[in-house]
Amino acid sequence: MQASLRRPIVAGNWKMNGSAELAETFVKGAQALSFSSVSVVICPPFPYLGHFVDARFGLGGQNAHHLAKGAQTGEVSAGMLKEVGCDYVILGHSERREMGESSELVADKVASALEVGLTPIFCVGEPLDVRQDNGHFEYVKAQLVPVIDKVGIAAFNEMVIAYEPVWAIGTGNTASPAQAQEVHAYIRSVLAGYDKTVAEGVAILYGGSVKASNAQELFSQADIDGGLIGGASLELNEFSKICQAADNLG
Ligand code: PGA
Repeated sequence: MQASLRRPIVAGNWKMNGSAELAETFVKGAQALSFSSVSVVICPPFPYLGHFVDARFGLGGQNAHHLAKGAQTGEVSAGMLKEVGCDYVILGHSERREMGESSELVADKVASALEVGLTPIFCVGEPLDVRQDNGHFEYVKAQLVPVIDKVGIAAFNEMVIAYEPVWAIGTGNTASPAQAQEVHAYIRSVLAGYDKTVAEGVAILYGGSVKASNAQELFSQADIDGGLIGGASLELNEFSKICQAADNLG
């Protein structure tokens, strides 16, 4: 399968940024995010999800608990996200892993999201010291395998993967298209070791300092199917241009 046969996706991860006003700007400007082939997803902070329910783009949470309900102050479940209109949830983001989330916990979260019909945007990526020691392939594999073991390879038909090298997130140090492509191809080869068809069909997004000025070159790589966008997703015009770059793949 050519990259063009996988549907490109661009997801905006607002992190703990934005406001009700920014949410309204995006909802009113939805036309700028309306494209023929790219799926556009916004992942705002939980309190702003309600602003987007009638918007014409996809909606996602930035995290979910692995349990369906219970005494977990401050947490939300995948089922709750689904109930308020989310289609996606970012899981295993490096900023969550830095707060102590293990790959096993991420695997449990992925399983819970799949159970309620949310599409996990499952994040992997190595920190700088690992990259400098050339350990990034093994590191990323060690993040992938617990999730494959937990949910099974076929579940990746219902998932999106995001490769986000930690050293590229929020730093302006975007991975070069070749560096990103190399890891994306590697991720696909790990999945292909389980099931070739699943590996060819899964969308793998790149994340880490994607901007309108570098999106086209990144997204044109054979195994890069769009992006997970942090800082540049907070400005409608910039984000729209990034989505346009992915739409050009379709
Ligand atoms: P960035 O963040 O685009 O601001 O680097 C990406 C992410 O963390 O998802």
